[in-house]
Amino acid sequence: MVFSDAVYGIGIESSCDETSISLIKNGSKIITNEIISQMDFHALYGGVIPESASRLHLEKASPLLERALNALKTSGGQLDYIAVTTRPGLVGPLLVGYYTALAAGYVYQVPVIPVHHLEAHFYAPLLEQKEIRYPFVGLLLSGGNSTIFHVHNLGSWKVLGDTLDDACGEALDKGATMMGLNYPGGPELEKQSNLFYQNQNEKKGTPQNRGKAPRNPFPKILADQKGENYNFSYSGLKTSLYYYLEKNRENNDALPVEALCAFYQERAFEIVERNIDHVLSQNIYQQLVAAGGVLANKTLKKKLATVCEKNSVEFITPSPALCTDNGAMVGALGYQYFKKGSWPDISTGVSSSKSWDVLL
Ligand code: KG4
Repeated sequence: MVFSDAVYGIGIESSCDETSISLIKNGSKIITNEIISQMDFHALYGGVIPESASRLHLEKASPLLERALNALKTSGGQLDYIAVTTRPGLVGPLLVGYYTALAAGYVYQVPVIPVHHLEAHFYAPLLEQKEIRYPFVGLLLSGGNSTIFHVHNLGSWKVLGDTLDDACGEALDKGATMMGLNYPGGPELEKQSNLFYQNQNEKKGTPQNRGKAPRNPFPKILADQKGENYNFSYSGLKTSLYYYLEKNRENNDALPVEALCAFYQERAFEIVERNIDHVLSQNIYQQLVAAGGVLANKTLKKKLATVCEKNSVEFITPSPALCTDNGAMVGALGYQYFKKGSWPDISTGVSSSKSWDVLL
């Protein structure tokens, strides 16, 4: 067995419906990043049931930890730290990760570093050899968050904009359900929208030249939002879809589902583009780091890349596997604290709250 000076850390993630325990080396190389999703279970109920999620995490946490520790043995390294998501999230699921980390930390006599889940998303690019430079704009779009951050430094950031109601992914999922599509609806909406654009292209040549193409029946989101407001709202969009479907139940001229998906998605992403454009136009950022499940959407990525180009800002987003919840990003952020030699107090426990200042 070869022992080295490399730093090995375990990252534990259990804030919602993914159990993930990863082993990473030097904060940037993934040795293992196993993710067990509970999606199929929760899909039966149309959303995450917190109590069931906790029980499913309990079943998976120990075998995943064992696999990560086996990988450590194989690599011949020694464990240096354990990082665990302690907020925000569902309290029951968070507690499973928290106590798994505390137990392993006690057995291996290594520090247990509490990690803020949302912040961890912005460190995932380090696992793909990308550099992040402070201050940067962090954008998180997922099933639970639509939030824009000013990230000043490690553990130091503020929220610039947040959703006033649903998260972007949540609104995509709920809209898709209303249209009779499967859960999770985000990928379904993307597929249907692409069919619509392809059809429009075939009919009219280019999407810009739609000619008699149908018009978007949904209103613009927060159309009059001005100044330093970078918030999101999706309840109006959902309501307008609901009434469109109600009114057009028997109408043979109603828009086909592909068109509805494309228009719904268009509005959902337009507000993201507008907010990001406004934030970047302040000219104080060099990078936009975007993560969360919704960033799997290629149309959205293209739009964000265009906005970044316009503002001469680098656009960074992890590959789809690292965009969603995973233990590796937790380990990557934990490494930054480990390297610095100080981190928040683990005895503060877990919390559903997004705020972070109480831990600093
Ligand atoms: O970050 P994430 O995996 O986990 C949670 O928030 O729990 O995000 C999940 C969200 C779901 O709302 C899902 O519909 C959305 O990401 N999503 C997408 C796509 N793939 C996943 N939304 C739009 N287009 C996609 N291709």
